[in-house]
Amino acid sequence: MPHPAMSPNNVAVITGGASGIGLAAAMRFASLGMNVCIADHDASRLREAGRQLSGAAQAGAANVMIKAVDVSRAEDVTELEHAVRERFGGTDVLMNNAGIQPGSEMFGPLQNWQRILGVNLWGVIHGSQVFAPEMIKRGRPGLIINTGSKQGITTPPGDPAYNVSKAGVKAFTEALQHELRNTAGAKISAHLFIPGFVFTGLTAKGRTKKPDAAWTPEQTVDFMIERVEAGDFYILCPDNDVPRKLDERRILWAAGDIVENRPALSR
Ligand code: NAI
Repeated sequence: MPHPAMSPNNVAVITGGASGIGLAAAMRFASLGMNVCIADHDASRLREAGRQLSGAAQAGAANVMIKAVDVSRAEDVTELEHAVRERFGGTDVLMNNAGIQPGSEMFGPLQNWQRILGVNLWGVIHGSQVFAPEMIKRGRPGLIINTGSKQGITTPPGDPAYNVSKAGVKAFTEALQHELRNTAGAKISAHLFIPGFVFTGLTAKGRTKKPDAAWTPEQTVDFMIERVEAGDFYILCPDNDVPRKLDERRILWAAGDIVENRPALSR
């Protein structure tokens, strides 16, 4: 059974929703009959994704909204929250997912570090700070899903700025979950989503130098759903891609009670 926040007619907001994992997630939410807002800084991709999503959403009769946003800018994220509240009345599921991986070097240009941390880490902080208080006020069950990376846990050699940004996302999500647990009346929880390797624009560019080789949203959905047990979206954390030496419970601790209770984690 999906989490109550993912009920039909509820509202999901996905940053970086114009492509890859974000668009796949948006399609999944729409297929559950949720109203969906995809936010992205790539305006043309966003329009195309909006069209694809509207087609996919018909079955669930969901409404689709698109919003051009740069998540590294706090004011853009504030505007996003206002726009969603105006259109749909509030947010039940926030997926802070926008991310970049242009490559980085330890002693490389500071601006590159700032850009990567600005999108990957500050984007998550902005989203959570702006949306969480409104979600608490709404008084309904809610989910905040922050997209991390196993690189934020294993810190492999190379691409230090990306690794640091994703380690920050993990730490921030844990801190947020602590706070939410201690906030009276808060029915929302924070989840760290660690995708395994998914063939998207981000990874196709970085690893194969063939951006066109990225999977279609449908292929991405199929692939991710293949890894899911029981059809629950928030368990799209495919643990099979995490190195065995790591303790999965520790990695996904921040994902809160629901994920901690997953049978897959006690295997
Ligand atoms: P993608 O490149 O297909 O999607 C990322 C989206 O974020 C794009 O639509 C892009 O326009 C948007 N974006 C970039 N900067 C933005 C900004 N400043 N404001 C708003 N939107 C912005 O890549 P993918 O793979 O779908 O990545 C999604 C998330 O998953 C990222 O956070 C990435 O780090 C993470 N991830 C991906 C993995 C993979 O195997 N593809 C593995 C682990 C983590």
